[in-house]
Amino acid sequence: MRVGVIGLGYLGVTHAVAMATLGHEVVGIEASPDRLAQLKAGKLPFYEPGLAEAMAAVVDKGLLGFEASVDAASDFELFFLCVGTPQRSGSNAADTSFVFAAGEALAKVMSSSAVVVGKSTVPVGTAADLQKKMSEIAGFDVKLAWNPEFLREGSALEDSLKPDRIVIGAWHKESVEALRNCYEKIIGAGTPVIETDVATAELVKVAANAFLATKVSFINAMAEVAEASGADAVSLAEAIGYDERIGKRFLRTGVGFGGGCLPKDIRGFVARAQELGVGDAVSFLEDVDAINLRRRQRVVDLAEQELGALSGKKILVLGLSFKPDSDDMRDSPALDIALKLAAGSAEVTVHDPVALEALGDKHPELVRANNLEACFEAKDLVVLATEWQQYRELDPAAAIRKVANTTIIDGRNVLDIPTWQAAGWKVIALGRNVHN
Ligand code: UGA
Repeated sequence: MRVGVIGLGYLGVTHAVAMATLGHEVVGIEASPDRLAQLKAGKLPFYEPGLAEAMAAVVDKGLLGFEASVDAASDFELFFLCVGTPQRSGSNAADTSFVFAAGEALAKVMSSSAVVVGKSTVPVGTAADLQKKMSEIAGFDVKLAWNPEFLREGSALEDSLKPDRIVIGAWHKESVEALRNCYEKIIGAGTPVIETDVATAELVKVAANAFLATKVSFINAMAEVAEASGADAVSLAEAIGYDERIGKRFLRTGVGFGGGCLPKDIRGFVARAQELGVGDAVSFLEDVDAINLRRRQRVVDLAEQELGALSGKKILVLGLSFKPDSDDMRDSPALDIALKLAAGSAEVTVHDPVALEALGDKHPELVRANNLEACFEAKDLVVLATEWQQYRELDPAAAIRKVANTTIIDGRNVLDIPTWQAAGWKVIALGRNVHN
């Protein structure tokens, strides 16, 4: 099929590469000239393992190209809207202006037989407004469907090509047919398909992210209780996780969730529910958000307990991205903790295997360190904030010889505490009562 993918951020690039990998002829459309030039030069605008190689392979085969405007794909049969829906500034609601801008530009040039599929995460009801607007502009009944994406950063392409499920919300049977054709190989491999109405498809995405965020905040709430009562939230998670109704996944306690999706999606969900007059139904998500943000402050409080006033203290923060295998620092707990410590006048050094480049010259108060071994030198405190593999594999005996004070806060519960203690470290682990 000839497929246009509009908006080449994380979602769009991954989806464009995935569709070309399935054998479709894909044109990616990106309005930002810088990003377009980067992609045309074969460079990814973000870090994602394996994606650059997969992109090069489909570009070489002539299955993927990049253009500045939908005019270049006006006769295509299938379009995916993959533009961002960030949190609106000064509000918790999602900003859908990019979705409308992309849809309206497309409506001006598309053919009446084309199918348009929204993949962006939007407040429920957005698609209905967009369909009306696009149909007005196009002068015909635009076949718009919604097909949310559930990919995770760090395993984006794999998640796109082997999803747990495909959700299709549509008004027109032609949209369902086009999507089923497009995903034929994925569906043929046994992936379940849920055909539903458009509002449900929009809601599935925010509901899934709200559930995941709630799971993380649940275990982090247990961590608060554990810290106050001498219990251990890591053992607790393991113990409740054996119950299949609860499950072990997404119960890792630590500094909490971040990224470009979970935090803004739960806030946007609350804002949308309030608009619909059912704010009370999801007001618990405000607690989910508050529990999550308290974990970041907890690290700062522990640092103060350990060091007294932070002013002039040398603190090493390991990790900046919101999770490993990503350079994404949007709403990152690690970056937030580093900035909070620096705001308390500590001298904060940051290390990250990939995110330093994306940090650029932002936040000049943070001292950058490229050499993991050397950055322990003369530190008063070490905070592990993102669980990169490199940090799990650190040699505690070598690291302890460099520091001025031997305390490490494990914000992700990934260190083997007895090994670190045996090397002489005092280990503080979130949600655990470690006897040092
Ligand atoms: C999330 C969802 O998992 C995807 O299904 C969804 O498609 C995506 O958002 C999106 O809306 O586009 P992602 O943001 O890549 O994916 O990251 P996750 O793997 O979900 O992790 C989110 C955050 O939760 C990270 O900061 C992670 O460190 C934290 N987390 C995760 C925990 O603190 N504990 C856990 O047990 C799991």
